[in-house]
Amino acid sequence: MRSSKISPSEKMADIYILCDNDEYKEKSIGLSDILGIRCVYDNVKTGPESLILHYGSDGLSLTGDGMTLRADFSDMTDRLRPDRVKGEMINKAVGLKYLKDDPLIMDATAGFGEDSILMAAAGFRVVMFERNMIIAMLLKDALIRAKTVEELSDITTRLQLRCGDSIEAMNDKLIQPDVIYLDPMFPQRNKSGLIKKKFQLLQKLENPCDEEEDLFDAACRLNPSKIIVKRPLKGNVLAFRKPGYCIKGSTVRYDCYVL
Ligand SMILES: C[S@@+](CC[C@H](N)C(=O)[O-])C[C@H]1O[C@@H](n2cnc3c(N)ncnc32)[C@H](O)[C@@H]1O
Repeated sequence: MRSSKISPSEKMADIYILCDNDEYKEKSIGLSDILGIRCVYDNVKTGPESLILHYGSDGLSLTGDGMTLRADFSDMTDRLRPDRVKGEMINKAVGLKYLKDDPLIMDATAGFGEDSILMAAAGFRVVMFERNMIIAMLLKDALIRAKTVEELSDITTRLQLRCGDSIEAMNDKLIQPDVIYLDPMFPQRNKSGLIKKKFQLLQKLENPCDEEEDLFDAACRLNPSKIIVKRPLKGNVLAFRKPGYCIKGSTVRYDCYVL
């Protein structure tokens, strides 16, 4: 399966793996091999515009633009509680009544996996696809850490990560999901300062989606019983396709297509 075209020359000015601790040396070198990104041994050699991947006691992080990002589920434990998670809009969009049929959900745009873990916590099996290898490695690290957290370890057994392009996987029929979930990057999805900064950092890795039609058409061809698309509340529908119905929150909307 093809993974993201994230070579430094194409999308990023400069990105490094900072290896400043013997304890994480092996992991850092392993990551360097996977990503084809070089290790540096102190910050001095990196510039102010650089993005830095770093292993520490709290996992793998990405630093740039004065902020540090980490995929992390541990601060979601309250939201993931069994008595709360079924009230999440995303789970209402999937349809809790289908839980009894043990449906398979494909999250075709996994990102940091927050939506996926909400669905898995409700009891759904979720296969996540992430094509940007840096985001995929941050997500993989979050999953490994989550397995060691009591409240999360059972949930992670319902989550599977595949690093690669979901359009290709759908076109090649590598998976036969009952529900397909799409949340492609949308320009300017939130105006709050912190989210905007986080978004800017992510934009250094990934452009807003320009393959909306390919994504939606590939999902339709797999013939799932439902496709769900997350959009900003007032954003356009994906690929000009009108949904059957929408579930609306205060900032986002879930467009549901029942096939
Ligand atoms: C807005 S983020 C998703 C956020 C996610 N729903 C969450 O809860 O964290 C979109 C992600 O989809 C990924 N993506 C976009 N197109 C993809 C594709 N065709 N295959 C796999 N991943 C894709 C991007 O790399 C990006 O990480």
